Amino acid sequence: MTGLAVNVDHIATLRQARGAAYPDPVAAAVLAELAGADGIVVHLREDRRHIQDRDVYLLRNTISTKMIMEMAVTDEIMDIACEVKPEQVTLVPEKREELTTEGGLDVTANRDLVASAAQRLHDSGILVSLFIDPNPAQIEASAAIGADLIEIHTGTFCDAQTMDEKQRAFSDIIEAARLARKMELGINAGHGLCYNTIKWFRGSDIIDEFSIGHSIIARAALVGMDRAVKEMIEQIKLTGP
Ligand code: PXP
Repeated sequence: MTGLAVNVDHIATLRQARGAAYPDPVAAAVLAELAGADGIVVHLREDRRHIQDRDVYLLRNTISTKMIMEMAVTDEIMDIACEVKPEQVTLVPEKREELTTEGGLDVTANRDLVASAAQRLHDSGILVSLFIDPNPAQIEASAAIGADLIEIHTGTFCDAQTMDEKQRAFSDIIEAARLARKMELGINAGHGLCYNTIKWFRGSDIIDEFSIGHSIIARAALVGMDRAVKEMIEQIKLTGP
């Protein structure tokens, strides 16, 4: 059964907009778990624009499903991850000026850096996922450096403006997932997915887990976290065979 990991970064975005103590992403994570989420994702960015150090430490001691830390390969954040010990780390590229993560990690061009980060995370007992574009060379490089999972970047598919572009981008995702399956990598997917784009995955069970944040948090602001998470799970359940 395909799972859902809920990213609560944007609860923290709302908090940071006023420098207040609320809303608390840890409280949101608990509600997401109660609604049936299989894991909680937070991206501790170098600029701390949303999730703060306090959040990752508290989450570690609060949630009971699976904690997934998204992060760039930097010494400071690697040290925190190895101390916090989430079940999984997803390595992503990070640029200070971006609104959100743009594009996948270039594993082929940064093989040594990513391999040594993966080794350090493995030594701390943390599963390593690499956020990559649906590109065969990136998948092969991810397998070669010993990643446990990949997360296929779905942003190009979600942002496609024409049906042709969307269909091509979707086929790239499915082809990438098939290749990753052959290489015995776990297969996650995410970025930009919403209650409509998720419907494309109906009838396919090739993705192990979706990682979804913005659309769920946006809906939660209007209908509540419980309903927003349950409605996404309902869509994902329809994606299975
Ligand atoms: N996966 C990765 C690697 C991401 O960086 C993000 C954004 O933080 C997501 C998934 C979730 O994307 P969205 O918030 O658009 O659902």
